This record gives sequence, structure tokens and C-alpha cells, in this order.
Amino acid sequence: MEFLASEKNCLTWTGDCLVIGLTEDSLPLTGELADLNTQVSGLLQELIDETEFTGKADSTAMIRLAPGTAVRKLGLVGLGGSQALTLDGLRRGAAAAARLAKKEKCTSLGLGMPVFQDNPALTAQALAEGAILALHQDTRFKSEEKTNGKVNLDQIHLLNLAGQEASLQTAQAICDGVILARELVSAPANIVTPEVLAQTALDIAADHGLTCEILEREQCQALGMGAYLGVAQASDLPPKFIHLTYRPAGNPTRKLALVGKGLTFDSGGLNIKVAGSGIEMMKVDMGGAAAVLGAAKAIGQLKPAVEVHFISAAVENMISGKALRPGDILTASNGKTIEVNNTDAEGRLTLADALVFAEKLGVDAIIDLATLTGACIVALGDDIAGLFTDHEDLATALTAAAETAGEKFWRLPMEESYFEGMKSIVADMKNTGPRPGGSITAALFLKQFVEHTPWVHLDVAGPVWTEQESGYNNPGGTGFGVRTLVEWVRSLG
Ligand code: BES
Ligand code: MN
Ligand code: ZN
Repeated sequence: MEFLASEKNCLTWTGDCLVIGLTEDSLPLTGELADLNTQVSGLLQELIDETEFTGKADSTAMIRLAPGTAVRKLGLVGLGGSQALTLDGLRRGAAAAARLAKKEKCTSLGLGMPVFQDNPALTAQALAEGAILALHQDTRFKSEEKTNGKVNLDQIHLLNLAGQEASLQTAQAICDGVILARELVSAPANIVTPEVLAQTALDIAADHGLTCEILEREQCQALGMGAYLGVAQASDLPPKFIHLTYRPAGNPTRKLALVGKGLTFDSGGLNIKVAGSGIEMMKVDMGGAAAVLGAAKAIGQLKPAVEVHFISAAVENMISGKALRPGDILTASNGKTIEVNNTDAEGRLTLADALVFAEKLGVDAIIDLATLTGACIVALGDDIAGLFTDHEDLATALTAAAETAGEKFWRLPMEESYFEGMKSIVADMKNTGPRPGGSITAALFLKQFVEHTPWVHLDVAGPVWTEQESGYNNPGGTGFGVRTLVEWVRSLG
């Protein structure tokens, strides 16, 4: 797939398929679009009339033009009201256009979209992201590839966006990261093991000039990571503690740590996940680690002036004669003791030691991403991640990054009084509290392992996976979190 930032407009572009993005206020046709209608002998207006096209978001229409004309097919994509148009609306519009062109077996697509807030750079980036992510198909585990004929969409020209080549490169780097995260999440747990996550980190380091250290079980033992290793003890697969580091060429403006929950499979342990609890989906429980590795792949290419540490305590939560028992007491690497009253609250045990490790690096901020609680899905549904922090500036910066990136977060309270429910008679704390407010107590548990560094916890249990095609997402892993992380890091570089 080749992207071109073209100086052509919808009147001058020639190729297989021209798709125009229309807001609800672009009708009746005026200016360039009225001229286009004249150029195609009124067929544009006919298409609008026949399909009752109003510009409603996500609506599409397409018509075949007369043989011998400058474009073979003319399509429309609705963008909703022009006042409500967002960057993500453009991303979804480009996705719809790319899907339409592919379905109609077009080889080249000329995309004519409005410019968002007089910002051609962000517009070009969003359009390219939407198209690339929509066209990504993951057929690795299908024995035969279902192709709809031989025709391939191999050129997308962004009209009226001459000079935006840098934005196209940015989009490609970010999408490389999102696609890596999607494929890591979609692959089953018999393929993506802790060792494969570690190898992925080593590959990113080799490909993009980062450094990577993988700590083996014994090294983690030496660091006192009893909480993490408690989760690891029943699996036949060895745990791999991943520490990947990006250092910019000059002096870094900041030092950051991104920590991802890396449970390649979560059986629940002896508190085993029962039928109906979604045990068969627990390959997605490394979605945080996948996002962190995806961000590393993008950041390794974009090279911001920020030092970034990518960390995951990768492990599998299994059962065996060696399994952690409910009631066992573990000691984390900061010396705190944890009574494990539920072995299915394993993510926070692994994150405890990962957060202690991150803070010891002396970073300016830590963000963790974790498919941590079903309770967060109950609270916010499948499409919105929970955001927990006591640090207002960090909340503001991440919220802004998420808005630009088109990922949805909702801030939930760190209600300190709920930590009462985690009190243990025998240890410093239990690992689970009562059912109500389960995402909040999980966040409060993590907080015990961050002493003074500004820190945000993102509970991404819902949005890492989708069953439905929607916008630029395809069924499967979504790569959620990568775009926000990369946008936030770049905003500091
Ligand atoms: N990995 C799960 C959370 C999860 C649920 C992720 C659904 C993705 C989709 C986590 O380890 C877990 O089991 N959490 C428990 C916590 C409980 C034992 C306090 C939960 O949410 O039920
Ligand atoms: Mn669990
Ligand atoms: Zn889990």
C-alpha cells in the first residue's frame, strides 16, 4: 500500500475510485463539489438523491461513472455535522472510504476530505491511520486466505494535502505499533507465550536501535519480586520480565516508564475462571503489554527527545501442584506483604513488582496499562478504558493525548476509603476487596507500590478486543492504548 500526499483536488485527480467526505452541511452542493457534479454530468447529485444521502456519519454511497471518464467510480462517505467533526471522525471516514474502495475492487483511491481545524498535518495523519488500520487483515491462523478476487487496493492519494509526507510517515509508524499490538492480542496463548513477548521486545530493540534486558526467574528472585513470581509458579512456561529502553540521541527532556500487564493467559489460578466468565478469551490479558510493545515500535521509529522505559512482567496464570493457594502470603519487591485471597486477582500482583521496578529507574512519570478488572467493563462498557490518578496534570495531558489519538478514557475516582476493604489480619493487605468498586480497589492496591512518582493507571480490560467491525477496527485485537501512549510521549518530546 502506497500513500501519497497529493496536490490534486477532486476535480483534477484521475484514477480508479474517488471518494468524497461530506458533512451534513455540505448539502446542497456548492463550490468545488458543484463543479465536480457538473464535470460528471450531474451523476453526483443523482447519487445523493437516489441513496437519500445526507452526510450522516458512517453512511456511504457509490456509483460507476461512464467508461472513459477520469475516474471509474465515485463514492461518498458521510462525516456527520461539520461542527461536531473530530479528528477521529476523519479517521473513521477514511476507514469507510478505504473499505468501500476495497469492496468495489478498486486499485487506487483518491480521498477528498475536509481539513480539520486548518491543520493539514493532523488531518493527513488521521486519514492515513484510519485507512491503514481499516485495511489491516489478520489471516495468520486461517489455513487458506479468503481473497475477493485478485484486485488489491495499492494506492491511496490524499487530495489537497500536498507537502504532508512527514504526517504519512508518522501515521505509518504509529500503525506499525497498533498492528503489532493487535496481532499480539489476537494470537492465542499457545502462540504468544511470555517468551514470545520477550522475543518481540528483543526484535523491536534490534530493528529500531533500542536496548532490551530480559530478567529471568532467578534475577527476579534476587530483586525480591515475590508477588510476580507467585503468579508464575504453577506454569510450565518460565516468566520473562521485559525491560526495553528507548534513549534519544541528545539529552532527554523527560524520563518515562510505560508498564503493561502481560498475562499471556489467565486461567484464574486455583480460583479458576468458571464457565461463562470468559476464560476462553483470557489470551487478551496481555493487552497492556501489547500496547506498551506497540508504543515502543512506534517510538523507536519516531524518535522523540524523551527517554522511555517499556516494562512488562510477562507470565501465565495457571494451576498445578505448585500453584499459589488462596490464602498464601507473598512479599513484593518493596517489602510489602500481600495475602492472596483470590488467585484470579493476579494482574495486580505482577504489576506491583513491575511498578516498584519502574520507580527505581528514577523516571518522571509512570503509566500502566492493564486488562485488570471485569468491574471496569461493567462500569464503562467495552469501548472505554478507566483512568485512575491522583495527579491532575498527568490526567489532563493524557486526556488531551487520548482525544487527539481517538481513544476513549473516563476518569474514575481513587477513593482512598475503599482501601479499608483490602485490610488483612495477617499481612499488609489482601489482593482483593469486596465486589462493589472492584476497579477502584484494584487501582488502590497498585498505588501501594508507587511511592512518589506521578503515576496513572489505565484499566483497558474492555477496549483491547472487539467482536464487531467498527470504524477502523476489525474484529479481534484493537491495539488499544498505543496511539494515546505515542501521542502523549511525543507531546513531551
Ligand atoms: N484478567 C482479568 C480481568 C479481565 C476480565 C480482563 C475480562 C479482560 C476481560 C483479571 O485478572 C481478573 O480476573 N479480575 C477479576 C478480579 C477479581 C478476582 C477481584 C475480575 O475482574 O473478576
Ligand atoms: Mn485474573
Ligand atoms: Zn488477569
